[in-house]
Amino acid sequence: MGQRVLVLGGRGRIGRAIVDDLLRHTKAMVIATGRRPSLSSPQPQRLVDHCLDLDQSVALDDAIASVDLVIHCAGPFHHRDGRVLHGCIRHRVNYIDISDHRGFTEMALKHHAAAQAAGITAVVNAGIFPGISNSMVRQGIETLDQAEAAHLSYVVGGSGGAGITVLRTTFLGLQQPIVARLQGQWQQVQPYSDRQVVRFPEPFGQVGVYWFDVPETGTLVDSFGLRTVTTKFGSVPDLYNHLTWLVARSPRAWLQQPAVVEGLAQVSYRMTQWSDRWSGVGVGIHLELRGQRQGQPTVYQAQFVHPQTAIAAAAGVGSVAQPLLTGRLHQPGVYPVERILPTDDVRSALAQRGMEIQQTVGST
Ligand SMILES: NC(=O)c1ccc[n+]([C@@H]2O[C@H](COP(=O)([O-])OP(=O)(O)OC[C@H]3O[C@@H](n4cnc5c(N)ncnc54)[C@H](OP(=O)(O)O)[C@@H]3O)[C@@H](O)[C@H]2O)c1
Repeated sequence: MGQRVLVLGGRGRIGRAIVDDLLRHTKAMVIATGRRPSLSSPQPQRLVDHCLDLDQSVALDDAIASVDLVIHCAGPFHHRDGRVLHGCIRHRVNYIDISDHRGFTEMALKHHAAAQAAGITAVVNAGIFPGISNSMVRQGIETLDQAEAAHLSYVVGGSGGAGITVLRTTFLGLQQPIVARLQGQWQQVQPYSDRQVVRFPEPFGQVGVYWFDVPETGTLVDSFGLRTVTTKFGSVPDLYNHLTWLVARSPRAWLQQPAVVEGLAQVSYRMTQWSDRWSGVGVGIHLELRGQRQGQPTVYQAQFVHPQTAIAAAAGVGSVAQPLLTGRLHQPGVYPVERILPTDDVRSALAQRGMEIQQTVGST
């Protein structure tokens, strides 16, 4: 029997792009889940629709036990516990998630020893950012002799073509101060603060970016011993940055009410449905890595851009799923992408999909 992949949240915006990527680039049978029966038919060959709520613990367990790989994209990860990873450990099934929430990532990484004992490879934070962004930093680290500071900036056009869940995660991310590593010290910074203008590849050009909490703010420090990691985000049109900046300055007690987060997500979802038509739904990443090469202070820069955020996120997941399914990637434990995925695998997975990371190295 061929291999089987369970995509939890496979009917969401990112999940659907991941399902397409798996059908295109692997030979596996794909089981995509949502909470309600799918209305679309007929389904492509090798795709099975399955109705599943993460709260149906027996059904979830049975679904995990029946596959070779689970890809968890049923966010928001702010509201998720480790039940999917626990199920994978129990049934010895490899695991990938697209979590973009730091607390969830930290929880998952604590299961490293249990995953090792079960002999499964679990990769957290696959996708575009986190995901391809983390691999860009690894590629830069491998280029320099010594690295001190990584500055990651992200831009998304409108909603990025993502579902309402991503807008919920944006507002959930404004609720708490960000703990970031700056010059060797952990320090608190305010979310959506400290605007900086960064030049991204076309079609974005110059974009204002702001502090944004993502798991790589923490994992890149642990993975590479960097003294400074900054992670900033901005969207186009710039109006959304100013509105988000205002929301981030609202009283915290107000912003922490679930109804407020839901209301903000619904309103901004409607606004982006309108503005996506002319802003596009692309994504851009700009990395500046500072360090030393051959005894000289050196700046490594890398850029990535794609017109469809969901397709780029799916490529990041595909770059992990492909070597896991062939067995080329087998390293029991739980790892963020940058700790486990070789740079050559990322390069060849992106090339197969007509994508590439642009790099330059220069003296400071
Ligand atoms: N790493 C990255 O690069 C990256 C990039 C973008 C987004 N993300 C993360 O990806 C997640 C999904 O984004 P999206 O745009 O695809 O969201 P979406 O379109 O709203 O889809 C969410 C999916 O999760 C499913 N789901 C939600 N609650 C569930 C539950 N209790 N049980 C089972 N399934 C449940 C939904 O099922 P229904 O179909 O039944 O509604 C849907 O299929 C977000 O949380 C975001 O944090 C990561």
